[in-house]
Amino acid sequence: MRFALETSRVDPSLCRPMNLLPGFRDFYPEDCARRNYILSRWREVARRYGCVEYDGPVLEPIDLYKKKSGGELLGQLFDFVDKGERHVAMRPEMTPTLARMVAARERDFKKPLKWFCVPQFFRYEKQQRGRLREFYQLNCDIIGEPSPAADAELIAIVIDTLRAFGLTKEDFVIRVSDRTAWTQFAMARGVGEEQVPDFLNVIDKLERTPREEISKRLAPFSIPIESVDAFLSNPAAEAAGLKTLTEDLAARGLDGFVELDLTIVRGLAYYTGFVFEVFDRRKKERALAGGGRYDKLLSLMSDNKVDLPALGFGMGDVVLANLIQDTPAAKAQMDAWMARNRAVDLYAIIAKEEQRPAALFYIQQLREIGYRVDYPLAPVKIGKQFQTAEQLGASLAIVFGDEWPQVKVKDLAKREEQLVPATELLALLERILPRA
Ligand code: HAM
Repeated sequence: MRFALETSRVDPSLCRPMNLLPGFRDFYPEDCARRNYILSRWREVARRYGCVEYDGPVLEPIDLYKKKSGGELLGQLFDFVDKGERHVAMRPEMTPTLARMVAARERDFKKPLKWFCVPQFFRYEKQQRGRLREFYQLNCDIIGEPSPAADAELIAIVIDTLRAFGLTKEDFVIRVSDRTAWTQFAMARGVGEEQVPDFLNVIDKLERTPREEISKRLAPFSIPIESVDAFLSNPAAEAAGLKTLTEDLAARGLDGFVELDLTIVRGLAYYTGFVFEVFDRRKKERALAGGGRYDKLLSLMSDNKVDLPALGFGMGDVVLANLIQDTPAAKAQMDAWMARNRAVDLYAIIAKEEQRPAALFYIQQLREIGYRVDYPLAPVKIGKQFQTAEQLGASLAIVFGDEWPQVKVKDLAKREEQLVPATELLALLERILPRA
């Protein structure tokens, strides 16, 4: 009775320890395969561009984000005080960690650095389509190169990453902008330098906020919404800045992916100039990726000891997975990868229990040279074993039975079989079945 009284005052969701926390995911094998598909393609493309992989800690001092990320991210931290009385936060993004790491050992690395990582992040956001409280993100960053050639190289990585999933310029668009244009706009209208980040936060919400609300938020800066409208409808000067980028991309045959859109300013405080976000063309999803230049962050991080220009982007797995799911060509490509990846190469059919030790000997040999092999752990009817072989996607079944010391090698797709001495099995497989 006492127990019942006590629990009745507790939040009911806390009494159901079997439930998932909102915004977190279980990764059953199918989900894990989908996640691995995304992560492996991300790694593949980043390496094609000469990027090298790094990682950092999952937990950081909260000050790292308080001082460096800024914006709405601060309200979304998973933070707590640890047993050593340190106020810490689970990482919500990588950029401050990266800046700290590079600033600490800057002399050890040849510039420009091209680094990537595929970490898991945590943000206490409202769970909705495309936004969870835990997600993976590809981060690619170029550090130590101020020229627009680096901007173009970064955008090319974004484009090729999405193309690697079978997505085309009909499926996504990169909307580029320049924060300096807005900074100059605000300062020319009397906004003080320290107020500029707050002003940029209002511009960042332009598309998702009703006009009256925007007008209200602009009031403290004494900027009427009409002058923002006028600035947005006359982006000629910015379009000129975009020319180098589009020419560089066109030389690679990557034109048609980028558009100018000054409503993009990014919600993080450290961006300094060129910024961009990637959206699906059908406008069904939240942003797929976002990034830009943060030329001052390294010097802020190192008390001006290290001053390196930098730029990068983050691409999340959640929106990307939604887009792949809704784009038939991309989905077919993912399904084929998953089927290939899940399948075993060979299934050993143990047709006679006396042959189990011989089968185990060859199964071990085959696994040692890199084939994926499975077999029944307990005696099972032969028909059922063939069924399992097919379900597991095996290319070949090897039958250990009456024919011993010969084995039957059956091609499960072509339904053809051949008999070979067991001693020649490995040599035969090397010829007919390439390893994954
Ligand atoms: P961000 O715009 O905060 O940038 O995040 C980049 C991408 O991560 C988003 O476009 C989205 O795909 C994904 N993402 C963000 N929050 C969530 C969420 N709650 N659930 C699922 N996906 C999410 C940054 O994080 C910058 N640090 C990127 C960067 C790297 N800039 C320079 N280098």
